[in-house]
Amino acid sequence: MNGPSRRMTAALAVAFLAGSPGAASASAEPDAAAERRAAAPCPQPLPPAVPPSPHRRTPSPGAAGVGDRYFEGAGNGGYDVAHYDVALAYAGTRTGSVDATVTATATAVQDLSAFDLDFRGPPIVSVAVDGREARHRRAGRELVITPAEPIRAGRAFRVAVRYAGTPAPVGDKTYGAYGWVPSKDGAVVASEPDGASTWLPVNDHPSDKATYAFRITVPKGLRAVANGRPGPVRTGGATATYEWAEDAPMASYLATVAIGRFRMRRTAVGGVPVITAVDPAFRSAAERLESTTVRVMRWAAPLFGPYPFATAGGIVDDPKLGYALETQERPVYGGFAPDDGFIVHEMAHQWFGDSVGLRDWSDIWLNEGFATYAEWLWRERTGKESAKDVFKRYYALPASSPIFSPPPGAPGAAKMFGFSVYVRGAMTLQALRDRVGDKAFFTILRTWTAEHRHSTATTPQFTALAERVSGQRLTTLFQTWLRSETKPLSW
Ligand code: TRP
Ligand code: ZN
Repeated sequence: MNGPSRRMTAALAVAFLAGSPGAASASAEPDAAAERRAAAPCPQPLPPAVPPSPHRRTPSPGAAGVGDRYFEGAGNGGYDVAHYDVALAYAGTRTGSVDATVTATATAVQDLSAFDLDFRGPPIVSVAVDGREARHRRAGRELVITPAEPIRAGRAFRVAVRYAGTPAPVGDKTYGAYGWVPSKDGAVVASEPDGASTWLPVNDHPSDKATYAFRITVPKGLRAVANGRPGPVRTGGATATYEWAEDAPMASYLATVAIGRFRMRRTAVGGVPVITAVDPAFRSAAERLESTTVRVMRWAAPLFGPYPFATAGGIVDDPKLGYALETQERPVYGGFAPDDGFIVHEMAHQWFGDSVGLRDWSDIWLNEGFATYAEWLWRERTGKESAKDVFKRYYALPASSPIFSPPPGAPGAAKMFGFSVYVRGAMTLQALRDRVGDKAFFTILRTWTAEHRHSTATTPQFTALAERVSGQRLTTLFQTWLRSETKPLSW
C-alpha cells in the first residue's frame, strides 16, 4: 500500500521497523539559407533545409501541458513565467470567499495566438493581457486566454486575472485534501503536487519557477503569513493587509499563504530571519518549532551547503492534515505539533526540492529520498544510531515490504509519495555513501546544491555528478537501487 504516506510519519516508520508493514539551430531563416546556397562558389555538403516552423508564420496556441511524465496536462507550453503578483482579499470564515487579482509577468517562447493558465479556483471576473481585456474560457483545469493580439516569441507580457468566490481544496482518499484548505479561523495552502491551481491561475509545474509578491488583505484580528520576507502591514477600517515577498525562484506547489490567528516568533541564524507562526491551538509547539528549525539550519549548512534562502521559519495551522509540506522558506505543518524528524525533513527539502527543484515529477525521489536521508543523518548526529544502522533495520524487512516497491526511480504517479520513494530513496543514498566514502559523498551533496541552486535538475544529472566526483562507475548501483523491480540484493 502506498496511500497514507504523503509523508512517512514517525509512527509509521516505527511500525515498519517493528516489521508490521501492513501500514505502510533550427532558427535559421529559410530564406537566408537559400540565398547562401545560391551564392556558394562551389558545391559543398549542405545541411538539410530547415523546414519553416509553423510558429514563425502563424501564431498558434501554447500547449495545454508541459508533457510531464506523470502529470501530462500540468503546466503549459509557449511561455515562461518570471513573477506572480498575488493581491488577495479574504472575507472571513463565514463565507470563506476571496476577491483576488493575480498578475503573471511572462515571456513568450513561441508566437502565441492563445495560451493557458492552470486554474481550478472561483469564477473569473476579468482577464487582461498587457492591460487590454482578453477573451477567456475555462476547460476543465485550464483557463484558455486569447489576447486581443498575438504575442510574439521573445516578448515579455503581463496577464492579469481577477476572480472572486470561495476556493476549495482538491484531493482523494489517497492524498487527502490539498491546495487551498479552509481552517477554523481562515485557510492554509499546501499544494503538492498539483493543488496550486485551486487558488492561483498559474503555470502549475515545478519546471517553471518564478518569484512571488503577496498582498493579502484579511479582516482585522486575523493575520496572513506567506513565503519569504515580510513587508509592511497596512491597516484600513476593518481590514489589515500583509505583504510577503518570495525573491528566489519558486515552484508553484511551494507557494503558501496561511490566514488565521497565529502566535508569531522571530529570531535569526547568521543574519537569516527565522519567522514562525503557530495556531494558538498548538501554542506549546511554538518553542520547539523555532529552536529545532534554528538547530537544523546550523547543523545542515556544513553538510548540504549554505542555507539557500533569505529567510526561514515554519507555520503550524489547525486543519488536521496530518502531514507537512516544505513550502519555500516556511514549511507548513498541518494539524500537529511537529517533532524533530518532521522539522529536519521539511528543512532538508529547502535544499533538496525547493532550491534544487524537479524538472519532472517522475524524479520525486530527488526530493523525498534526500529529505528522509537527512532525518537519518540527524539521528546519526546524536550518536544514538548511524544512518547505516537505520538502513540495516529497513534492509532486514522482507522483500514483500512496500518500502521496496515500486522502485523509487519509477514509482508511477499513484505511488509517487509511497514508502519506497521515501525509504528506498534514502537507502539509495546510503548505498552511494558506502560505495564512495564520506568525503566524496558529502562533496556530491554540496556540489549538487551549489550547481543547481535555485534551479531544477534530473536523476541523470545526479548520477553523472556522483560518478564525476567519486571517479567511479555507478551505473549498476543506481540502476539496482532506483529501478530494479525487486529488493536489491547486490549492487
Ligand atoms: N512533500 C511532503 C513531505 O514529504 C508530502 C506531501 C505530498 C504533501 N503532497 C502533499 C504535503 C500535499 C502537503 C500537501 O514533506
Ligand atoms: Zn518530504
